[in-house]
Amino acid sequence: MPATNAALEKWSAVESYLKAGEGRFLDELKNLIRIPSVSAQPAHNDDTREAAEFVRDDLTRSGMKAEIVETAGHPIVIGRSPHVDGQPTVLVYGHYDVQPAEKADGWATEPFEPVEKNGNLYARGATDDKGQFYTHLKAAEAWMKAGGGLPVNVVFLIEGEEEVGGANLEKFFAEKAGELACDYAVISDSSQWAPGVPAVTYGLRGLCYLELLVQGPKTDLHSGMFGGAVANPLNALCKIIASLHDDKGRVAIEGFYDDVAPLADWERAEFAALPFDESAFREVLGVKELTGEAGFTTLERKSARPTCDVHGLWGGYSGPGPKTVLPAKAGAKLSFRLVPNQDNRKVADAFRKHVAKVCPLGVTYEIIDHHGAPGVVVETDTPGMAAARRAIDVAFGREPVLVREGGSIPVVGLIKDHLKVDTLLLGWGQNDDNLHAPDEKFSIADFHRGIAASARFFAELAR
Ligand code: BES
Ligand code: ZN
Repeated sequence: MPATNAALEKWSAVESYLKAGEGRFLDELKNLIRIPSVSAQPAHNDDTREAAEFVRDDLTRSGMKAEIVETAGHPIVIGRSPHVDGQPTVLVYGHYDVQPAEKADGWATEPFEPVEKNGNLYARGATDDKGQFYTHLKAAEAWMKAGGGLPVNVVFLIEGEEEVGGANLEKFFAEKAGELACDYAVISDSSQWAPGVPAVTYGLRGLCYLELLVQGPKTDLHSGMFGGAVANPLNALCKIIASLHDDKGRVAIEGFYDDVAPLADWERAEFAALPFDESAFREVLGVKELTGEAGFTTLERKSARPTCDVHGLWGGYSGPGPKTVLPAKAGAKLSFRLVPNQDNRKVADAFRKHVAKVCPLGVTYEIIDHHGAPGVVVETDTPGMAAARRAIDVAFGREPVLVREGGSIPVVGLIKDHLKVDTLLLGWGQNDDNLHAPDEKFSIADFHRGIAASARFFAELAR
């Protein structure tokens, strides 16, 4: 890559700083990970605050103007690099909150005590998202300390409610959009295609998360004395859930597919061209068959088609031995993964209509609408995308593949709506990083490559 501008001339100084700093960057990341900033559990509120302060102080030490912005929930950290005239502004988003984790969930080691093993760092938050967003902080630090300042304007927005789909970030965007104006947005909170195959994610699914509570008799009943005369809410709930799919694996809710953006021929060709071994995939997951919507491949089904899954189901008795109870109530948590053009509120309404239609007689129900996010597909033929691809090529040693992923990152929709820019999703993780599960990990080499890619990306964006 020829040094085409002033920023690239300083690249070797930045690169040397990054090389020299590797050990320290990892130690600092470990310190951030040791803070158990679990956003879902109020007992960890002091920890989420401590993580926010850690991020603010780190940004401050690098020479950014950083502050904590209070919300009704967990705080948001904003950091700004010194202004450089005539250069674009990049918004870097990350989340310092993590999913709950207890050693008893099946972890090999303590979840909040990072352990290095086989080139990976094992801990909750290692890849989702502390290890990933921290790459951008260290990249910015390198420019500040060794490159004479950042070659572009950078605004950091690191929040603490991503894992709980908090409404506070939306409020923040609605109120402060003017202060977040940017030309590019970048997020590292997704995955590479495979080890040695970096990826840029150009599509994410959206989400519509609901809870369905079914009420029957006012108290639990003896199923021998009352079964047959009184509707069982657990039976009713199962019937409703069973009605959500047809036997072709499609969601059987009227209107569900109305707005679904169809997969273009070129996308189907790209999916088919990606290196993917179905039998190895089955083996890794420990399943005999892969199933889903008829007419689509596994890769299409898990990243570019809408789905419905139940996440939890309760009611009645599930302790040891039998108990012949006809339960008074039952409940389920479920969600729909959405694709572009589907509106999560419209999907929630369609679900309401469906339940009204199929709910058996003799029970009542309530539906709670938890959170939503739109599905997104971003432009791939843009200067920002080209800059990201060059930067990844330099840092990872090969050009990234373009992929769509099945997970959701709600802020991408907020950035599009309020700031009118597409987000570049530059994920440094791997598909087997165990996010939201025991033994979460992040490759240490990818951590350092991510830092280098971010640093290079800032240079590639400079005019
Ligand atoms: N980093 C993930 C999303 C992700 C995972 C994107 C894998 C691409 C590939 C993110 O932190 C997450 O878990 N999001 C939630 C969304 C939410 C509203 C709770 C999700 O997708 O379930
Ligand atoms: Zn997550």
